[in-house]
Amino acid sequence: MVITIDGPAGAGKSTIAKLLAKRLGFAFMDTGAMYRALTVKAMRCQVRLEDADALVSLAKNTHIDLLNEPGKPLKVLLDGEDVSEAIRSVDVTNNTFYIARTPGVRHVMVEWQQKMGLRQSMVGDGRDLGTVVFPKAEYKFFLDADFKVRCRRRIDEMRAKGQDVDEEALAKDLAERDHQDTSRKVGPLKQADDAIRVDSTNMSIDEAVDFMFLRIHQK
Ligand code: C5P
Repeated sequence: MVITIDGPAGAGKSTIAKLLAKRLGFAFMDTGAMYRALTVKAMRCQVRLEDADALVSLAKNTHIDLLNEPGKPLKVLLDGEDVSEAIRSVDVTNNTFYIARTPGVRHVMVEWQQKMGLRQSMVGDGRDLGTVVFPKAEYKFFLDADFKVRCRRRIDEMRAKGQDVDEEALAKDLAERDHQDTSRKVGPLKQADDAIRVDSTNMSIDEAVDFMFLRIHQK
């Protein structure tokens, strides 16, 4: 069984998808982490990020895996190396746009994700899972929240990790990412027609997980 959760950055997708997966005993697939991991490789190999052909060839020669171990955070493996921390840097976050907008790269990513979906039951989070990757998923959710609340959550998350935050710059980056994600030609952020919309603006994480869990068990 595949359950998809799409939505904009900062809506709480990863946290909620992880908890929902745990509760259902499913694997968790963080597709944003896969785009980020390829960005790490492109930056390390000094591939020109505007060079679509080079990015596609890089993707075809890369192995990205997501390791779900009971009771441990998801591990993101780039050619066997654990890059779970490296993928969260600000530079990687801002450069992932180049990887995500390249149609040939998305094609490779979608194939990897579909193969993972065949291996096990899972909850996946991303931008195009309900529309492109798993159009026949058993349950689809589209998770959104007010822009200001999404900014606040990101700020709190970074501060909790002891990182310095420039609130204005963060809001600008988030708005820019929203624009890039919704306006790209291939695999844009979009609610699938048959997805259930969840507005988490006034919901706690647990409330959102409960809501989805109940919807899955009601049908
Ligand atoms: O979800 P997260 O913010 O970690 O994703 C990082 C970036 O990867 C997003 O800004 C988005 O552009 C891209 N992405 C994507 N398609 C997905 C998941 C993420 O284009 N399915």
